[in-house]
Amino acid sequence: MCGIVGYVGNKQAGPILLDGLGKLEYRGYDSAGIAVINNGEFSIAKAKGKLQELIDKTDGGKALPGTIGIGHTRWATHGEPSEDNAHPHISMRETVVGVHNGIIENYVELRTKLERHGFRFYSQTDTEIAINLVEYYLDKYQLGPLHAVTHAMLRIRGSYALAIMFKCDPERIYLARKDSPMIIGVKEGETYIASDVPAIIKYVNDVYYIGNEECAVAEATGVKFYNIDMEEIHNDLVHVDMDPTAAAKGGYRHFMMKEIMEQPKAVTDTLNSVLRDGIIDLTSIGLSPEELRAIDKVYIAACGSAWHVGMASQYVIEDLAGVEARVELASEMRYRNFPFSPNSLLVVISQSGETADTLAALRKAKACGVKTVAVVNVLGSSIAREADHPFYTVAGPEISVATTKAYSAQLIAMYCLALNLAAAKGKLSEDQYKGYIAEIQSIPSKIEDIFKKKQALQRLANRNANASDVFFIGRGIDYAVGLEGSLKLKEISYIHSEAYAAGELKHGTISLIEQNTLVVGILSQPELIEKTVSNIVEVKARGATVLGIDMSGEENVKKNVDNLVSVPSIDPHFAASLLVIPLQIFAYYVAVTKGLDVDKPRNLAKSVTVE
Ligand code: G6P
Repeated sequence: MCGIVGYVGNKQAGPILLDGLGKLEYRGYDSAGIAVINNGEFSIAKAKGKLQELIDKTDGGKALPGTIGIGHTRWATHGEPSEDNAHPHISMRETVVGVHNGIIENYVELRTKLERHGFRFYSQTDTEIAINLVEYYLDKYQLGPLHAVTHAMLRIRGSYALAIMFKCDPERIYLARKDSPMIIGVKEGETYIASDVPAIIKYVNDVYYIGNEECAVAEATGVKFYNIDMEEIHNDLVHVDMDPTAAAKGGYRHFMMKEIMEQPKAVTDTLNSVLRDGIIDLTSIGLSPEELRAIDKVYIAACGSAWHVGMASQYVIEDLAGVEARVELASEMRYRNFPFSPNSLLVVISQSGETADTLAALRKAKACGVKTVAVVNVLGSSIAREADHPFYTVAGPEISVATTKAYSAQLIAMYCLALNLAAAKGKLSEDQYKGYIAEIQSIPSKIEDIFKKKQALQRLANRNANASDVFFIGRGIDYAVGLEGSLKLKEISYIHSEAYAAGELKHGTISLIEQNTLVVGILSQPELIEKTVSNIVEVKARGATVLGIDMSGEENVKKNVDNLVSVPSIDPHFAASLLVIPLQIFAYYVAVTKGLDVDKPRNLAKSVTVE
């Protein structure tokens, strides 16, 4: 999830590159860099941290004179955030410079090959390997940059958007693309390159989209496209009308909606990161079948939405694997004399990897000799570094304070853990195991189906935007989802809401139900539907208006709720992944209706690094 820009024309490239990177910072924010060619020589500047560091370091780009250049803002995948790992990367003989977005899966194999030919590397990135591979083919075949790029494309497995400059051809930028986005904007005497339109819309409205496994050669006077066999091909110029201020949100009004819509991809990418030949392989996370077999108790510690993921997954772990699972608020666990059992596993869950309480709980467990795994989104974060093993979710940078796609990715990581624990404990036949994986694989398309209900949810949100109290009720996993639905609503809409285990209502909370109080009933767990319906009937008898989020399709549910949102059905263990989607969209539209700052709710921060 990195951002790429490029420029070749008659203006100074540096300031244009930095401006474009500013619009792409949402794609990555751990380091940035630019490279410019001046009098046939490369000058490169990189800085760790926010883009502002690079802007300061290069005097807004002016310190690197030249009218052709490339830039990059990074969200670390291979190698921690550092200046060495930041792009652009330069080849060993300093004849090729490039930036890359994507993941090169066979980089270890390519690295070994290049090492055999005497190549040495200064970074831990897959990108540096790709750039040196291009240099290797350039030298070996002496057939020019386009040949070297296409030849490298044949050898690279994975995804890439590459923008490459050659010392031997200082007037052009070479581009290659597979499964990672890249566009080229053109106007009289200037060509702009970017990962997406917002980065360059301020300068150009006419853009080319490079097709998959195609390459392009950009120069000031225009661009030519080639297939992998170096045959020139035609691509259509597309006129784009976009409000330049929509920039970094990729056309969405708020990051939150953009991130909601990215959930199918976050789920797919997280699952695929551990799926090998149809089997979940957690060996690299320190959870080989033997290691899992030895675990007799799972503790989960986290904060906020990550804790809600823990809540949902404890049911899944206990039900599938028959292993006791206990979720704790990290802020509580850190100060308790916790009697960790010797063969236990602590899983901490954190998007940012920097939440102070979660980090403290992790340290406490480690000090007690407990094996630890961190389900974490940000590469190289404190929690990722300190846990015995990070299990990275692949949600990409999440910017909206209210988490959505990271929550969904965390659920997937926990399902994988639960499944492999169950398999290691001999609780699943091979068919059952594969069946569950197939169910998880069905989540992204089912989330897409729920997106079709956006308008209906918006109408429901409009109608309920003036609510002063909302209650979410459910049992088991449905209760865990209610906790998340309630948090989403309260944090961005400032409406008081509470999630209650439906069976607990009668112990006090039901006294708060008045005429027209909104109650959201969540219904997915077959053996609990009837029970929750009884609770719905009870609140309705006291005047509540009930919105049902239902997976059962049962008549009994339909006739007892005032409004119904049906979600596609899935194995009940994985229901949280679908039930949460309408609740996120509902909360979003309530906040929008109230005219609130959806992405930056009052008093909150994305990453809570103090107690
Ligand atoms: C903040 C965020 C929440 C998040 C929680 C834990 O409160 O607003 O969205 O769930 O912190 O953060 P973490 O980065 O550890 O997942």
